[in-house]
Amino acid sequence: MNRKSGQKTLLGYRVTRLLITLALMSIASATIAAGNPAAGKFKAISCQICHGKDGHSTNPAYPKLAGQHAAYIEKQMHDFKTKKRIDPVMNEMAPSISDRDIADIAAYFESIK
Ligand code: HEC
Repeated sequence: MNRKSGQKTLLGYRVTRLLITLALMSIASATIAAGNPAAGKFKAISCQICHGKDGHSTNPAYPKLAGQHAAYIEKQMHDFKTKKRIDPVMNEMAPSISDRDIADIAAYFESIK
């Protein structure tokens, strides 16, 4: 093998590796968009002070989040953030939670039966 074809092989290897990396990244970002319930379990601990263990609220002042649709939870959280929906407690809390964390928390509560 002369030097030139050796370089070609190396380039081919790099391109293949790049394509694999891009493919993995698109899988990862698809997962990110959907929200990760396992990650959300830990992020949702503070919510359970009011919304009950695993979102099974027993206090009518705090809505049940267990089994709620993730898309609904995410929308409410964004509405609390932007004050499209007004609640003194949630308006205080929501802005400090990133969209990523909201997606994970929402996926977690949706996964609870
Ligand atoms: C200090 C108490 C408290 C904590 C902690 C709390 N919430 Fe709330 N949350 C409330 C109250 C009160 C409401 C009801 C607002 C209303 O009546 O409009 C509410 C409403 C909501 C709603 C709307 C539910 C519905 O059915 O429309 C969502 C979603 C929500 N909270 C998510 C969360 C998440 C996620 C966390 C944790 C990051 C959290 N909350 C932490 C008190 C709390």
